[in-house]
Amino acid sequence: MCGIAGYVGAREATPILLGGLQRLEYRGYDSSGVAVKNGGPSTVVRSLGKLAELAKRLEGAGVSGNLGIGHTRWATHGRPSDRNAHPHKVGPVAVVHNGIVENHVELRRRLIGRGRVFSSDTDTEVLAHLIDEALQAGEANLTEAVRAALRQVEGSYAVAVLSDVHGERIVGARRGSPLVVGLGDGETFLASDVSAIVGQTREVIYLDDGDVVELTRTGPKLSLLDGQPIDRAPKTITWNLAQAEKDGYPHFMLKEIHEQPRAVADTLRGRLRVATGDADIDGYNVDVTKLRRVVLLACGTSYHAALVGKFLIESFSRIPCEVDLASEFRYRDPVVGPDDLVIAISQSGETADTLAALKEAKLRGAQLFAISNVFESSIPRAADAAFYTHAGLEIGVASTKAFTSQLAALALLAIHIGRRTRTLGDAQAIEVARELAILPDKMTAALAGLGNVHDLAARYSHVHDMLYLGRGVNYPIALEGALKLKEISYIHAEGFAAGEMKHGPIALIDRDVPVVVIAPKGPGYDKVLSNLAEVRARDGQIIAVATQGDDSIEAMSDAVLWVPPTIPLLQPLLTVLPLQLLAYSAALAKGNDVDQPRNLAKSVTVE
Ligand code: M6R
Repeated sequence: MCGIAGYVGAREATPILLGGLQRLEYRGYDSSGVAVKNGGPSTVVRSLGKLAELAKRLEGAGVSGNLGIGHTRWATHGRPSDRNAHPHKVGPVAVVHNGIVENHVELRRRLIGRGRVFSSDTDTEVLAHLIDEALQAGEANLTEAVRAALRQVEGSYAVAVLSDVHGERIVGARRGSPLVVGLGDGETFLASDVSAIVGQTREVIYLDDGDVVELTRTGPKLSLLDGQPIDRAPKTITWNLAQAEKDGYPHFMLKEIHEQPRAVADTLRGRLRVATGDADIDGYNVDVTKLRRVVLLACGTSYHAALVGKFLIESFSRIPCEVDLASEFRYRDPVVGPDDLVIAISQSGETADTLAALKEAKLRGAQLFAISNVFESSIPRAADAAFYTHAGLEIGVASTKAFTSQLAALALLAIHIGRRTRTLGDAQAIEVARELAILPDKMTAALAGLGNVHDLAARYSHVHDMLYLGRGVNYPIALEGALKLKEISYIHAEGFAAGEMKHGPIALIDRDVPVVVIAPKGPGYDKVLSNLAEVRARDGQIIAVATQGDDSIEAMSDAVLWVPPTIPLLQPLLTVLPLQLLAYSAALAKGNDVDQPRNLAKSVTVE
């Protein structure tokens, strides 16, 4: 989704802004722009398309200055175009904005009534007019003018504002969309995502909702929307720039697929107690004996992790566990209360639907826990306690290593709860812990043995539809495999519980609809084989995901993607790997932009 970069210091701002925006490209965008100034008026340059287009426009435009703001836009209000790209300049004021001004129609109507003329279709432009209006009404201070404008706004925002006539300063503010300040030596940075500034500084201040910040070369001045000054301690970023590079891989997604053994090992590190069959969950402080229910909330791939988590939590702790799409949760008057543990799962920690669902659960008094990959992001900060997956920065829009790390985190959590409810006995706990500990090695072996995926994907990349079938703990993996395929290859794909096939989806089977059947050895294996036979009897082509050495499945399938054996509840950490590679290779075969698929954003910060 949209990205913000800002700089004030002694250096030329434009390359710093472009560098920062490049690091935000992974979030997905359709246009971009900068406003740069040097004492006098700012110059705004904007362009539809990728940053390379903006860079071309900037060449020879003679833009120079040591203060600037930049933006990558993912269209919500108004189609992608030059005129809708940010920054929006009104009078002396230039504004970039992430989020949605929900009352923009009413505000625009009133502004037009007062003689204002709009030059874009965006909700953001109302903000620029409101700030300019406050200045024209006599407000001399830019920060105060921004406050006056924001007080009229409903919805979410992260904004960065500069002015032609207010010297060397940028004003930022946050409500519902992330914003972080970077502290340099005689220079200060602003960004919507820490990855935009990690190459410049490691000392950062994460803004909270309601914060307003004024940035100058000497640093930030923080206050609340009502003007009350506040103090917030800086934090040090621990990961480095190399983690934001492709490291020799052609795409971030492929790099991240291959990073999974390391990512899962990092999730487990220092937490898994193999000898005793236990897990330490830092920050988790819930009396499990009083828990009535666990509710998992998430969207997209994280929702699929939650569906696997339900199996793990119920099996180890015998506490009922529900899984809800975060985007639906708060609209159905949910029954949750103080005896429920609500766990929000989010790679980015910024997904607007998941954050809103967590807040809804808070209003109803539930105990709140978050599983996230991004330190200090909004969702962990809104929860009572957070558990970080430590998968490292995930840049490919298609989530891969974050997913398997979430599964590892959920397994740890399930073990932890199960040991405390005394429903997970020593022998089983030690077996699960031992198996978890060696899973990173098995993942490495699985990835190394999947060399056939590339040819297979090329063979099927022309198809229009694909079905994915799985049972039990592998049903969510069927959903995840289908999501991965459709989001980057644009092949229509659906996942089904294999047993549901004969209740409808079987009507879709013919020679042109390949079926991926996830059928590792374990509970339900024989039933899945029967489903596979049903597909075969209708001329369907079968790609099986199976346990190494399973000869019977090989004889019944057109192609097999092998994974090593493991205990049933941990199979998803292996069975998902070939499906990620299949989606990647199919997208590649079709010549798609693997890391930034059309219409999608990495972090969905609007509802
Ligand atoms: O950051 P989150 O985990 O909250 O994101 C949720 C979904 O937007 C995300 O998983 C999305 O479905 C991915 N693009 C899937 O690959």
